[in-house]
Amino acid sequence: MGDSHNGLPRHAPATLRNRESILEVLKRALPNAGMLLEVASGTGEHAAFIAPRLPGRLHWQPSEASVDALADIDAHTDGDENSRIHPAILLNASDTEWPIRSADAVFCCNMIHIAPWNAAEGLFAGSSRILADAAPMILYGPFKRQGRHTAPSNQSFDDDLRARNPCWGVRCLETEVVPLAEKSGFALDEIVAMPANNLTVIFRRV
Ligand SMILES: C[S@@+](CC[C@H](N)C(=O)[O-])C[C@H]1O[C@@H](n2cnc3c(N)ncnc32)[C@H](O)[C@@H]1O
Repeated sequence: MGDSHNGLPRHAPATLRNRESILEVLKRALPNAGMLLEVASGTGEHAAFIAPRLPGRLHWQPSEASVDALADIDAHTDGDENSRIHPAILLNASDTEWPIRSADAVFCCNMIHIAPWNAAEGLFAGSSRILADAAPMILYGPFKRQGRHTAPSNQSFDDDLRARNPCWGVRCLETEVVPLAEKSGFALDEIVAMPANNLTVIFRRV
């Protein structure tokens, strides 16, 4: 996912391409205050770029299932002048208990297709436990629509993912993700088309 050079924290090039458009959606979808939990923060570069640019006083809690990622995340986010980004915590979405009891929003970018389906199940179950009514749970990534890929590049990406791990793969919004969300206590609020055939999908706790 990320590259490490000369002891510098890992860098995920895709974050430079998608961070501006993600920021624009988050600006209007997130509450002005409280705490956002980011699940699967990766290198922490989304947190580092987006959190200081959000209006209001929302705090940002990065997290990762990979212990090795935590230092990279903190290295990228240390420069937050407003100190709104908290030190990264270890959190596996699949776990039935999360090390955080409540949050005002959950954001998860590019995880559910690069993890077994039980990570998506755990993500919705955990978000359901920690979010209050109407709070947003926001996914970003590639999705199939009505069982079909939306672009040849997504099909190739899906083939590549499944070759790397048969439990991975681009998920279908209508037949897999939305039914899981509804079963977990969320309603679909908005689907935003993003560059490079990705979507931002906003669910709300009901
Ligand atoms: C493709 S990276 C995306 C990272 C970052 N969100 C981004 O967009 O650059 C996928 C990340 O999901 C994390 N991950 C995989 N399974 C997970 C799980 N069950 N719980 C939390 N994170 C997980 C991996 O450690 C990896 O950092």
